[in-house]
Amino acid sequence: MRLTVIGTGYLGATHAACMAELGHEVIGVDVDADKIAALSSGRIPFHEPGLEKLLGKHLASGRLRFTTSYEEAAAFGQVHFVCVGTPQSYRSDAADVRYVDAAFAELARHAAPDAILVGKSTVPVGTARRLADAHAVEVAWNPEFLREGFAVQDTLRPDRLVFGVESERAGALLREVYALVLAAGTPLVSVDFPTAELVKTAANAFLATKISFINAMAEVCEAAGGDIGKLAEAIGHDDRIGAKFLRAGVGFGGGCLPKDIRAFAHRAEELGVSLGFLREVDAINMRRRDRVVELTRELCGGSVMGARVSVLGAAFKPDSDDIRDSPALNVAARLQLDGADVTVHDPVAMDNARKAFPLLGYALSAEEAIRGADAVLHLTEWAQYGELDPVRLTGLARTPRLVDGRGTLDGARWTAAGWDFRAPGRPAHPHAAVIKER
Ligand code: UGA
Repeated sequence: MRLTVIGTGYLGATHAACMAELGHEVIGVDVDADKIAALSSGRIPFHEPGLEKLLGKHLASGRLRFTTSYEEAAAFGQVHFVCVGTPQSYRSDAADVRYVDAAFAELARHAAPDAILVGKSTVPVGTARRLADAHAVEVAWNPEFLREGFAVQDTLRPDRLVFGVESERAGALLREVYALVLAAGTPLVSVDFPTAELVKTAANAFLATKISFINAMAEVCEAAGGDIGKLAEAIGHDDRIGAKFLRAGVGFGGGCLPKDIRAFAHRAEELGVSLGFLREVDAINMRRRDRVVELTRELCGGSVMGARVSVLGAAFKPDSDDIRDSPALNVAARLQLDGADVTVHDPVAMDNARKAFPLLGYALSAEEAIRGADAVLHLTEWAQYGELDPVRLTGLARTPRLVDGRGTLDGARWTAAGWDFRAPGRPAHPHAAVIKER
């Protein structure tokens, strides 16, 4: 089939390359000429494992190309996927749908009369209906669920496909687009427009709620002296609860969960439904950042003024260079405002971090960041940080203190090596020297 993908950000670039991998001829469209030039020469302007290889493969196979021209794309495609962003509005929690509206308007103006316009962006419920009524073209909604860091595998082998369609023809066209994915046994849920839009926001709201639930339990553990790691492990053995997304720590960030729960609560309120619990999910999440700042202060004797703080991680999660609403950088910036001298390290997100937070210090390796530190904060759980040797690093820090804001480091090991080790929701490990005294 001949497909177009409008918007070549993280979702669109991945979708375009994966559609070519499924055997289709694809044109990716973006208004940003620099992005189109980079993609046309085989470079993706962000970090996503496996994507650049797939891009190169299909630029070479001739099945994938990029353009800034809507006319060219509209004349080419039978099915047009709209993958533009829906950021949080400046004035409220609502999603800003202006890029979706503009893409549909441009496509509707140029597309063939029998073309179908498929929205993939995360939008407030009611958007598909509004667009279908506004334009004399067939509309469908096909939300995406891909995770940064796993975008290629989540697109080619998704947990499920959701088609929001109003005609047999639209459903048949989408089944043809995803024929190989469906043939591999992927479940398909065909629904109306509002349900398709809501599936996406409900899924992200559930994930955010699960993380904030476990973080709220971490708060109780802190008050009662329990261990959130063990608690999560124990409840996760129950199949009905499941062990995934129960990692307590500094909380969720990124370009999706935080803004999606706000936009969802806002939209529900417009519809007369109170989703107040999502406001609490948001509040719990933000409190976890406060808690890491507070723990650092406690560890440094009540104030971080003049302390050298090393922050391991800048991306909102590992295997990504995305720093949007990154808890790590949020904590780093707050400590700096409190008078700390903060040095950040991240394996891939340093350039983005430097642009957004030019006044923080940056180190080219974790060891360099830790050198001379009064406190080390582990805030993005990159695999390489899990492999750091606490014994070797003890002499590098000025004072060996560590806050594990992701709860993935082996506290006993760091403590045994002489580190004053703290992790939110976990009991403070007695310092090795204290154990000896007893
Ligand atoms: C999220 C969803 O997981 C995807 O299904 C969805 O398609 C995507 O948003 C989107 O709407 O486009 P993503 O933002 O890539 O994907 O990241 P997640 O893997 O969901 O992680 C989000 C945040 O939660 C990260 O900051 C992560 O560190 C944090 N997290 C995750 C925890 O704090 N604890 C956990 O147990 C899991």
